[in-house]
Amino acid sequence: MTQQIPPIISISSGKGGVGKTTFSVNLATALSDRGQKILLIDGDLGLGNVDVLLGLQVSHTLQETVEEGRDPQDLLVEVDPRFFVLPASSGVPEMAALSQEEQAFLTAVLGDIIGNFDLVLIDTAAGIGDAVLWFNQWATENIIILTPDPTSLTDAYALMKVMANHYDKKKFQLVVNNVKSKKEALETFTILAAVMEKFIEVKPSYLGPIPQDSNVVKAIRSQRPFLVTTPNCRAGKAVRTLAEQIEKSCK
Ligand SMILES: Nc1ncnc2c1ncn2[C@@H]1O[C@H](COP(=O)(O)OP(=O)(O)OP(=O)(O)O)[C@@H](O)[C@H]1O
Ligand SMILES: [Mg+2]
Repeated sequence: MTQQIPPIISISSGKGGVGKTTFSVNLATALSDRGQKILLIDGDLGLGNVDVLLGLQVSHTLQETVEEGRDPQDLLVEVDPRFFVLPASSGVPEMAALSQEEQAFLTAVLGDIIGNFDLVLIDTAAGIGDAVLWFNQWATENIIILTPDPTSLTDAYALMKVMANHYDKKKFQLVVNNVKSKKEALETFTILAAVMEKFIEVKPSYLGPIPQDSNVVKAIRSQRPFLVTTPNCRAGKAVRTLAEQIEKSCK
């Protein structure tokens, strides 16, 4: 029986430390709360930490799939019946670069398991290394997360420029994280969108903002999503709104 391929959503940023992993685990929580069966792939193959943010016990990682051919089905960790994680290893520098053979292998083995899910999310590494580019080209939807920090803006631009020029990706959905106001987020988006339209002729869409919220940091320290620890905090409400929009845009 052929299974339908679900939407595959990559979450990238260019710059490190802007909130990709925090957003990914909370978006996965929000979407599974909405009734979707979610697979969250830890695509940060060198420094994976989805498992840390969810307080998971992990015995096998994607590294064993790529290097030893382990069936990814064995790696799946259940967070709840509608939320599964495919964990990555941490501290394995060679995994950040993916050979052509490894890329082909990943396409085949991941293709085999994603049909069991309604939506697939990928938390990628920072930068524009092989694995980041591979996950972005494999994905059917590309979310880029940035903050109002100018270096975050230039790194997000650099990543989208490479994806547009070398992989013919022209559709990006932008999330502006860690903002003091909706106005600050919209201004950040507007600046980046103008640069993109002028220099790479790509018009990104605006998914929305996530406010700076001390509950985010508290939740990280307790190794749980803020949508579990303080579901009605400002960041929680924002991620629920984004989840609803993402669900609609994938239909
Ligand atoms: N909305 C927010 N409010 C307050 N702090 C935030 C928010 N989002 C992220 N942070 C802070 O940013 C830090 C980095 O977040 P996170 O680990 O999710 O980033 P990342 O982009 O995945 O990093 P890396 O590039 O290293 O993978 C968090 O530990 C937290 O302190
Ligand atoms: Mg991360």
